[in-house]
Amino acid sequence: MQTWNPEQYATHARFVSDLGQPLLELLAPRAGERVLDVGCGDGALTERLVAAGCRVVGIDNSAAQVRAARARGIDARVADAAALDFDREFDAVFSNAVLHWITRPDAVLAGIRRALAPGGRLVAELGGHGCVAAVREALGIALDRRGIDAEGCDPWYFPTAAEYRARLEEHGFAVDTIELFPRATRLPSDLTDWLQTFAQPFLAAVPAPERPAVCAEVRRRLEPQLRGGDGTWVADYVRLRVAARNLRRAACDAGASSERRPPTRPPGRGAAARGGAR
Ligand SMILES: C[S@@+](CC[C@H](N)C(=O)[O-])C[C@H]1O[C@@H](n2cnc3c(N)ncnc32)[C@H](O)[C@@H]1O
Repeated sequence: MQTWNPEQYATHARFVSDLGQPLLELLAPRAGERVLDVGCGDGALTERLVAAGCRVVGIDNSAAQVRAARARGIDARVADAAALDFDREFDAVFSNAVLHWITRPDAVLAGIRRALAPGGRLVAELGGHGCVAAVREALGIALDRRGIDAEGCDPWYFPTAAEYRARLEEHGFAVDTIELFPRATRLPSDLTDWLQTFAQPFLAAVPAPERPAVCAEVRRRLEPQLRGGDGTWVADYVRLRVAARNLRRAACDAGASSERRPPTRPPGRGAAARGGAR
């Protein structure tokens, strides 16, 4: 089970939002646009969308992260990205470092498409095929030695570009760009902090007293590969960056009763949003 603690996130994972700038540039937000940030986390990156003049709603399924985002003045709501209930309310959906945490990609893409106005765009970055392969392997070996199947605890979905493109197209998106690229990532602290921040589902598979030994073992195994001469850890991230458009045209949908737009509903008043406000 993965949980998110905003203080731990700010100390050991701030690089995630810091490295989101190129994705923001790919989105090229315009003032007045309605943007949904899927998995807004503590809102550090969402804040930049607000600063660009967008009307932003953030959703995240961590109540603690949502509280931190609200403390920045962001309209953030607790909701599951795999059960979005917005209906054509956004000009763009933005998502950084979230979609690989959800192993139901079709549910996510269906909800994102529903949330987008016709022609609306999706700009997202997620972990891609091969992401943190060395770390996963080391965790696998450490768990295997304890008789635990690491695959069963692996929380991540790291697709190839071809697979994700096909999914996007199946869901009615036109893919403008999709790029898989390695992004060696300098960690701000020790690998153990990274493991405790991001690899909780693996660590949770062993009894609590055994976890430090697992971290130490993983650390030892990876040190020659991922630790530089200056002591800095560099994780073997691979990213998948996507820009796509919702192909649905307003004129076509006018006749489709099951997808007809409700007469009026202000942005972000869907059931997911209501659930989040509870
Ligand atoms: C690595 S953080 C990225 C946060 C933020 N986008 C950023 O760039 O800093 C991943 C976020 O995804 C959220 N998340 C994971 N699974 C989710 C889901 N099913 N629905 C909504 N949010 C989810 C987590 O709560 C966490 O805040």
